[in-house]
Amino acid sequence: MRVLLSADEIQASIERLAAVIHEREGKKPLTVIAVMTGSIIFLADLIRKLEMPLRVGVIQARSYLGTERGSLTINSDMLPEVAGQDVLVVDDIFDTGHTLVEVLALLKDLGPRSIRTAVLVLKQGKQRVTLVPDYVGFEIPDVFVVGYGLDYNDAYRNLPFLAALEPQDIEAPPAS
Ligand code: IMP
Ligand code: MG
Repeated sequence: MRVLLSADEIQASIERLAAVIHEREGKKPLTVIAVMTGSIIFLADLIRKLEMPLRVGVIQARSYLGTERGSLTINSDMLPEVAGQDVLVVDDIFDTGHTLVEVLALLKDLGPRSIRTAVLVLKQGKQRVTLVPDYVGFEIPDVFVVGYGLDYNDAYRNLPFLAALEPQDIEAPPAS
């Protein structure tokens, strides 16, 4: 695999994102909702740079089988109270955008006061939705990436950097 963003580059980007979030959100309390599982490391690093009072909750969205999109399932059993709250949804990567659109639709039904979105990376040219995330750390080309929370078949989430998978890293699908 090939390193796309080093650990230091990611940290610098999160500092910039936190500064922009402070500027826009002010000191009001935030309810940060992380889209599991890919956003765990981004969540942990981002919230430690945020100074407003905040609560953390999670929602789980699963859509990938290897490097191909499967159908999306959302588990919202572990959500905290969202009604009347200022919500910041945090996700690892904005690819087609379908995941975040569906997560937002579900959260909007719960009656938040406001809802904004932060993603660590956006894949250029892949979006199939009109939603644009409010806060974006990096834009990257259309390659499958792992590390810093992102997985390929549940592996590589613990890499401290973000790397592009190369063809030899990708298993051939089983013959049918
Ligand atoms: P979307 O619904 O197409 O925007 O995909 C969003 C979700 O798919 C992300 O939250 C990731 O969990 C996963 N995903 C998309 N691209 C990648 C990738 O390059 N590597 C690992 N996971 C990815
Ligand atoms: Mg995800």
